[in-house]
Amino acid sequence: MNKPTKPILEFPKRFLWGAATAAHQVEGGNHNQWTVWELENAKAKVAQAEYHLNDYVSWERIKDQAKDPDNYVSGELGDHYNRYEEDFDLLEKMHMNAYRFSIEWSRIEPEEGRWDAEAVTHYKEYVARLKKKNIEPIVTLFHFTLPVWFAQKGGFTKRSNVKYFTRFTEKIISELGTDVRLIITINEPEVYATESYYHQTWPPAVYNRYKWWRVINNLAYAHRQSAKVIHRLNRRYKVSIAKNSNFFYPGDNAWLSRLSAAVMQYTQDDYFIKKVIKHCDFLGVNYYFSNRVYGYRIHNPDQQLSDLNWDLHPADIQYALERLHGKYNIPIIITENGLADADDSRRQWWITQTLIGMQKAIANGVQLQGYLHWSLIDNFEWASGKWPRFGLAAVDYATGARMLRPSARWFGRVIKKIRGV
Ligand code: BGC
Repeated sequence: MNKPTKPILEFPKRFLWGAATAAHQVEGGNHNQWTVWELENAKAKVAQAEYHLNDYVSWERIKDQAKDPDNYVSGELGDHYNRYEEDFDLLEKMHMNAYRFSIEWSRIEPEEGRWDAEAVTHYKEYVARLKKKNIEPIVTLFHFTLPVWFAQKGGFTKRSNVKYFTRFTEKIISELGTDVRLIITINEPEVYATESYYHQTWPPAVYNRYKWWRVINNLAYAHRQSAKVIHRLNRRYKVSIAKNSNFFYPGDNAWLSRLSAAVMQYTQDDYFIKKVIKHCDFLGVNYYFSNRVYGYRIHNPDQQLSDLNWDLHPADIQYALERLHGKYNIPIIITENGLADADDSRRQWWITQTLIGMQKAIANGVQLQGYLHWSLIDNFEWASGKWPRFGLAAVDYATGARMLRPSARWFGRVIKKIRGV
């Protein structure tokens, strides 16, 4: 492992330092399209585990979990829904001043048109608690999970269904009022559409190119409509999507590599951003990958891999940020960034490289306003289940105990120094 180089400790004064989660991945006890699907598919996932995962660097360590049906069922998880105060204490321990989370639509509107008052109160208290701790809440409205009734109506495949999402937006934002300022409408639209309607790895797990295309476009429409509603409620809200933004670059000077990298960048990044950017006050960016393109294929160096076998190139965040800045010239918040690293052997190095990349991007003019690490605590990694460990804090699912990993304690000290608190 590379020795971490020291980050240069200069960031804008009001920079947001924090971590992120999503409701279904941490809360436990949900009932939505995902929970239904998990129960139906756990056995099949166990049967396929060895075939799909045995070339992972982490295979020996994860194989028992990957072959256990319980791994694929979110269930109670770390019970963040009830233990959130403990988790907010972790933010404080790391001297963080921001936290991104999502509101579970299926809790707020469990049946079409019926608002659950208890769930609304829960999230109001949740936000109030953050405010009390001087932690800036960053709310996500759609982070991959749908109420069962909405999924049964066809979810986002139908444009006429978008009105249900904007109605939910209006309801929850007017309830939260001005306790929130920063709002993410949609998380990673293309990832959602592609896994659900193309790769068939997420519910409803269908392969239908027409629906895939419709979902991407309808999510752009859903953002525009929701942003209008939110701004009508109060012009001071700052709204964005959380865009999965990979950086693509040609591995050689061949025309095909250059062309392919440009096409991939456009189709996976700019196509969607262009559809929503006029309705964004900042750009939320989830950075996990850079991709090296040879010919028409991605061939990454794969020198360092995460537990999920993702190629790790944290410092390239600089180029992703500079590219987006050059094209859209809008403030940016990194809404997600991190890695699955159960033994915590690479996280400190990853964060260090990321800080250096961010610093360079700022020096080159990027209006970077915040960094939110994925994730605050270990969580349910969708189709992979519980074994991937993204948390700054480890969660023992048997007891619910949380413990900051060594890299998180280090990161906390770095933040303290940078913020001068
Ligand atoms: C998603 C998260 C996910 C993370 C790691 C992002 O694609 O927004 O929900 O857990 O990346 O895969």
